[in-house]
Amino acid sequence: QAATLAQQPKKISPDLFGIFFEDISYAADGGLYAEMVQNRSFEYSPTDRKGWNALTSWDYLTDGFGYGNISVESSSPLHPNNKHYVLLTIEEPGQKGIGIRNNGFDGMVIRKGAQYHFSLFAKQESPGAGIATEVSLQNNKGEILAASKCSINNKEWKKYELTLTADGSTDSAQLVIRFTSKGSVALDMVSLFPEKTFHNRPNGLRADLAQTIADLHPKFMRFPGGCLVHGDGLGNMYRWKNTIGPVEQRIEQKNSWNYHQSAGLGYFEYFQFCEDIGAKPLPVVPAAVSCQNSGGTWRIGGTGQRGLEPDELKTYIQDVLDLIEYANGSKDSYWGAKRAAAGHLEPFHLEYIGIGNEDKITPVFKERFQKIYAAVKEKYPAVTVIGTVGPAPAGEDFELGWQFANEQKVPIVDEHYYEAPAWFLSNQHRYDHYNRNLSGVYIGEYASRGNTLGNALAEAVYMTSLERNADVVRMASYAPLLANQQHTSWNPNLIYFTNTRILPTVNYYVQQLFSRNQGDLYYDGLVSFAQKDSVLAASCVKDTRTGDLIIKIVNAGPAQTVADIQLGSLLAKNASAEVQVLSGEPGMKNTWEHPETIVPKMAAIQPGRKMQYDVIPYSLTVIRVKK
Ligand code: AHR
Repeated sequence: QAATLAQQPKKISPDLFGIFFEDISYAADGGLYAEMVQNRSFEYSPTDRKGWNALTSWDYLTDGFGYGNISVESSSPLHPNNKHYVLLTIEEPGQKGIGIRNNGFDGMVIRKGAQYHFSLFAKQESPGAGIATEVSLQNNKGEILAASKCSINNKEWKKYELTLTADGSTDSAQLVIRFTSKGSVALDMVSLFPEKTFHNRPNGLRADLAQTIADLHPKFMRFPGGCLVHGDGLGNMYRWKNTIGPVEQRIEQKNSWNYHQSAGLGYFEYFQFCEDIGAKPLPVVPAAVSCQNSGGTWRIGGTGQRGLEPDELKTYIQDVLDLIEYANGSKDSYWGAKRAAAGHLEPFHLEYIGIGNEDKITPVFKERFQKIYAAVKEKYPAVTVIGTVGPAPAGEDFELGWQFANEQKVPIVDEHYYEAPAWFLSNQHRYDHYNRNLSGVYIGEYASRGNTLGNALAEAVYMTSLERNADVVRMASYAPLLANQQHTSWNPNLIYFTNTRILPTVNYYVQQLFSRNQGDLYYDGLVSFAQKDSVLAASCVKDTRTGDLIIKIVNAGPAQTVADIQLGSLLAKNASAEVQVLSGEPGMKNTWEHPETIVPKMAAIQPGRKMQYDVIPYSLTVIRVKK
């Protein structure tokens, strides 16, 4: 009887394990977005970061005895959304020409034989013949690795494009543009992309980093934040409409993580990336309120939450509806046509939309959330709205958030927690008792505050409990996903990177093992241990697409143990099994010096109806029983 009952599976969310991309720690500009020029549009300003200005990352070059002048102008911009540009007057070009140089994001990585796509917008501001222009990539000794020429001779803004082929390699190249004839020239949107981007998309993503994300096989991707979504004041909210269309027409703004958002990686690129990696898009829009901490240091004081006033709110709600039309409308709809114009005729099949992120549950928030939610529900009932209950596991806003979500019957709410490993071990029954008749849960951000194997295994223990409860926990994503090693605003992260290298953490491999071995049916009670201990956990799911059964066994403790696995009649005749094991000492991490300290290793097992599996200390084992 017990065996029969145990073999009744329950349906679980097919979208359980996904990713959370926030533009934090240079995850977008200087990270996933493949643009190599920093401050390409001269829009950096001291509001982004103290000390920054329109010429940050640029040097003015007059080293060949030439002379002239450089200024930042705004009187006749390329587009009203893109206010600043540079005006160079070449009075005497000297031996080398005068010009500008960009250092990229900590130098540019150039590889021999590779091609780079250079472009800029320019106009000749002086009469007479065009301005002779030389574009080159140089190493830090000033040696030219790639070069090309053009003449800037248009009196209106025009895009000039060149292909640069490198005949040498360096990790610290600089882009140099020199003008070798007299005159005046206005410049904006100076851009350099590697020839190869992920899926060869124009205005695309860094191929190696995107592939590392794709290798997780995430079922969904939440974007673009995090706190970035509501920004640090009403004027700094992330407004999706500012981030689509030709890149030179997008509205750039301060990144509340103390840098700048070029919006080059905008909503079109996010949707396209989701599609390219087979992840469902989960955009999160602000709930028309600013961060409660805005005006002050993050989470410490600030001037408090403010909300859009009624007339602005009306427009804002329409923006949210328009986003859904942009994603899902036909190419003949107003916003669907904009998507089509960007090259995607078919809809992006948006199923989920998040409203709000960790907002304080005040009357200001409630009123605005309610209105946005009602409008989405009415116009797009098939789109699932995800609300917010802020930082869990406790706290006033968490309680109020749940209360409000229940009153409003919000389909799914977003819980976040950053806790110590011990918390994850002792809270693995958190969702066993959640009321299945209330809102479902999206764990939009979680991490156990470290990148050691011990941390990752505590997360793995917890993830088995998410599988067990994936009838109520519908989605979960580790946070944050990416961090540029030289510019981390937050630690720990799932993937660290430099311009040349990528460091997946042990936590990454845990996420990957779960995500690539996700099922849609959960079997209870098939795996048991001789003794009960919070460091031991297991799950068994079935992937009905392949018919494979997947068993995960975690031992986050120091003692070897045995797991009894009873597959009984679930085991198909002639089944085989693939086993992957992640193990080591609990304090071990993947480091830049030893990046593969802990990676999954293949092992062998002969599957049986009844099996005993020796579980080594500090390990995660995934057994995929293939039909
Ligand atoms: O993941 C980093 C930050 O943590 C997110 O921006 C915010 O939502 C959370 O508090």
